[in-house]
Amino acid sequence: MGQIEDALSQLPDMPSIAVHIQKWRASYPAFDANLRADVEEGKALRALALSVWSNGDAATAVQMLQAALVLCPSDPWVFSDLSGALAATGRIEEARVFLSLSLNLDSSNAQRWLLFAGYCLQCGETEDAKIALNKALEINPGLDQAWISLGIACLQTKEFDAAVQCLREGLRLNDQGSLVHACYGEALFHSGDVPASAQAYRNAFARGISDATVMSKHLFAQLLEALLTQPPASALKIYENVTGLQVDPPASLINKAFHFLSSYGYRPAALNCARYLLEESPNDPILSYLADALRGEVTQRAPDAYITEFFDQFSDTFEEKLVGLLQYRVPETIAKEIETRGISFQSCLDLGCGTGLMAQLIHQPGRLITGVDLSSGMLAKAAERKVYTTLIQSEIHRYFETVTQTFDAIIAADVLVYIGDLQALMAGAAKCLSSGGHLIVSVETTQKADFEILPSGRFAHRLEYLQRLSGDQFSLERIIPTNIRRDAIGFANGAIVFMRRLDRDRHP
Ligand SMILES: C[S@@+](CC[C@H](N)C(=O)[O-])C[C@H]1O[C@@H](n2cnc3c(N)ncnc32)[C@H](O)[C@@H]1O
Repeated sequence: MGQIEDALSQLPDMPSIAVHIQKWRASYPAFDANLRADVEEGKALRALALSVWSNGDAATAVQMLQAALVLCPSDPWVFSDLSGALAATGRIEEARVFLSLSLNLDSSNAQRWLLFAGYCLQCGETEDAKIALNKALEINPGLDQAWISLGIACLQTKEFDAAVQCLREGLRLNDQGSLVHACYGEALFHSGDVPASAQAYRNAFARGISDATVMSKHLFAQLLEALLTQPPASALKIYENVTGLQVDPPASLINKAFHFLSSYGYRPAALNCARYLLEESPNDPILSYLADALRGEVTQRAPDAYITEFFDQFSDTFEEKLVGLLQYRVPETIAKEIETRGISFQSCLDLGCGTGLMAQLIHQPGRLITGVDLSSGMLAKAAERKVYTTLIQSEIHRYFETVTQTFDAIIAADVLVYIGDLQALMAGAAKCLSSGGHLIVSVETTQKADFEILPSGRFAHRLEYLQRLSGDQFSLERIIPTNIRRDAIGFANGAIVFMRRLDRDRHP
């Protein structure tokens, strides 16, 4: 049964309404007087319910309004009153249903849409809430609470630029409490506007933040702002002056700031942070590589030490972060294409297999999947999936140098982003693919050069470069443009490229 039918099925029938009305007449003289004065039963019941509710008895008001609704089935106010009384008794799902029925009868009340959005948010229906808030704002664009709620809903769905716009409008219409200023600070933070975010947090602070999490975000925003104009040592001093104490170890704060500043394109400030950190840990492979990437110093590929260290550290939270937070869907897109196009293969090499997200989607009885990866942490997670025939810890190019086996398919999902120059990789794939075998790779794309190192430490490639390298050993079958994953400023643009090994006898 649907939610609406379910809610309606709980309404009383006429005989039981008649019994209740007799009872309520006896208990509430004003109600009895109204009926004697020929006030319609439904209207008299609604008035009684509102009075009972205002005296604190929302549960009895629900019963009365349910009866009133049966008697006045086309009165939007009875639906919305019943919804309110249900909400007051904690029955939010039902409240939402009755308010939606009220809105079906009369959709012109902005406040009702706003209330409906609130119930949707409480039920975790953020998208429905956004629709309702937009309706409220169509009717009344001056409804500051609708802008604020829409901003917060956008913050929840990680639409940070939209969140900034809505919260800004809500704040323009009416000054709000500290929490709204803090939400505005957070939206600005995620959209990468450091100075405006720091100011919004200061506004929240001035209005009395007490929440510890918000407080620490406020302080971090102040540190970031200071880092835009000061070297890390002085910025830390400013931070200490604001906090009055040192909350986190300086290196961990500057490390966090480094990652934020580099991903949002604050290159000089990020490089200052990298220098500061490298003074303390000159051999840190992650920092050294990311600092090189920030300086645009292109290497052939990310060094093994970086890959190993980074992915070993990352393996426990990889899926939660990549799939959950960054909405990485490359394996799903590849698997869907394999299925819809009927791409068939028995043996498959999963290059940079990671935790096995790709193999999990394509494994089937009789299919032999070999996974190769540098990171033992990632390989351990892949092994837990029990979908690989063989797992090998190796760097991809070294693997190609030694392997003698051939495969019917080679897949590299989100791996070429760690390899700039793809010439050797393409030659290795040509060597290991049987005639007609499939080579499926994802890339982040650029127009600027054959390949380019990004501040994230990932490489982007020009599709024409891949096409050129496919040369006379592969046919280029299909390119699917796709978002690879979220990054700080939106989605990383990319593509999935499907190639086929040409006949090895004619194209060795
Ligand atoms: C972003 S993850 C992708 C994992 C997996 N393909 C997926 O789609 O979930 C990249 C993986 O490639 C591995 N990797 C990167 N460069 C490599 C290289 N040169 N040799 C071997 N493994 C590499 C990393 O260790 C990591 O596990």
